[in-house]
Amino acid sequence: MVRWPAASMIPLALQMALGLQLAAAADRAEPEKPAPRPGRSAVERAALAVRLRSIYRGDPKEWPKPHVDPEIVWQEIGLLPPVQHPKSNPFSHAKAELGRMLFFDPRLSAGGKMACVSCHEPNLGWADGRSVSQPPGRSPPRNTPTIRNIAFQSSLFWDGRATSLEEQAEQALVNPSEMAADRDQVVRRLAGSPTYRKQFGEAFPDRRIEFVSVIQAIACFERTIVSGRSRFDEFLRGDSSSLTDAEILGLDLFRREARCMNCHHGPAFSDGRFHDLGLSFYGRSNEDVGRRDVTGVIEDTGRFRTPTLRDVTSTTPLMHTGMFQLPGVLNMYNAGMVTLKRQPYQRNDPRFPVKSPHLKPLGLNRQDLDDLAAFLGSLEEPKHRVLPPQLPDIGDESGDESGKAAPDNSMPVTATQ
Ligand code: HEC
Ligand code: HEC
Repeated sequence: MVRWPAASMIPLALQMALGLQLAAAADRAEPEKPAPRPGRSAVERAALAVRLRSIYRGDPKEWPKPHVDPEIVWQEIGLLPPVQHPKSNPFSHAKAELGRMLFFDPRLSAGGKMACVSCHEPNLGWADGRSVSQPPGRSPPRNTPTIRNIAFQSSLFWDGRATSLEEQAEQALVNPSEMAADRDQVVRRLAGSPTYRKQFGEAFPDRRIEFVSVIQAIACFERTIVSGRSRFDEFLRGDSSSLTDAEILGLDLFRREARCMNCHHGPAFSDGRFHDLGLSFYGRSNEDVGRRDVTGVIEDTGRFRTPTLRDVTSTTPLMHTGMFQLPGVLNMYNAGMVTLKRQPYQRNDPRFPVKSPHLKPLGLNRQDLDDLAAFLGSLEEPKHRVLPPQLPDIGDESGDESGKAAPDNSMPVTATQ
């Protein structure tokens, strides 16, 4: 079952109300919304669960076909394959370990206070638990995505504006609104530490300490952050008791009646493509047109990259806006998501966002939505506390901080929670 944390019950209620409110707006635009289908008795549910369990414990090639629209080229959900490290930045233990230290080290930032881990905290599902944070190189602020399984994404950020982890790490480091690192200063600081000099020497034997090595080490470390120990993974590896009846019913809903596999498919539960779910706040002060800012293509207005759903219950609040909890999101999908209404002045606006045609009212009942939530909960990785590495001393090169600065999690962010 999904655990709803008691401490967030009030925001949860608000989020759900918001979800319902948006869903109600969608109702008005789509009057053909089907009534929720009737619920099942406990006996019917148990019988269905037995049947589905025996199907899903078998070879995924024999699973029932997912409900996706005809043009969708889909891949089955399942176990993650091994990560492919690029030829330009091959894996080594020394490099990944160096990257791990750099990821945790706030002394890479100009102010010496902000590290990657300040917003991608392993104990918060490698996100930050905040509604939104200031992302590298753009505004308005967006929800911090997890970096777990990021090796399986072909483009990075909600709008896909970076195409490699190396490019992404560089943007995060040097962007003035974020870590604001100065390349030469970073290299000088690191070179002041005998420990870092030794580690760079092991990771990049043919080079002196260079900024590009910093980026490559961080990217190499990020590619090691993968999931694969969720109860769903255990089920796929043959432990058919690791999913409850509700989770099995939810798995089947996810693949079929709830139509989720139109976009969340493949082992990482993402098609890597961009879709408009109606959350762009088009024409409002908090407008975020997503992919269009990157491509300039009108059809991309309001489109965002499909996120992974692995471990999604650890990374609430959800969506690029960070405005929702899981029940609110599921309510909205059930209503066919949000259909923005054109204001009179927008009547002939060719840039007005067009919601994905793959979203339709689903007619699921409360029991179904609970089962769907339960299945998403089975994608959660087991929790084990990740301790920060011991950071080496850095010589007092620039006259500012030295020694073991701890990452500071209190940087300015806009939080609505
Ligand atoms: C102030 C908070 C903050 C800090 C510090 C930060 N990030 Fe992020 N990160 C974000 C936000 C917010 C986004 C999403 C931005 C967007 O999509 O426009 C993001 C996106 C990402 C992504 C892409 C995830 C995806 O699903 O596409 C990666 C990878 C990433 N960050 C790695 C890093 C690394 C490496 C560092 C350190 C060099 C770092 N971040 C520092 C907030 C932060
Ligand atoms: C048309 C493609 C599409 C379909 C169909 C779809 N999703 Fe999504 N999903 C997305 C995109 C794109 C986002 C991010 C949207 C945004 O933030 O603006 C998303 C976000 C989410 C999130 C939030 C994840 C996070 O980390 O913030 C959840 C949970 C989710 N989807 C679950 C589902 C479920 C369950 C279904 C089936 C009922 C479903 N989705 C169907 C494309 C889709």
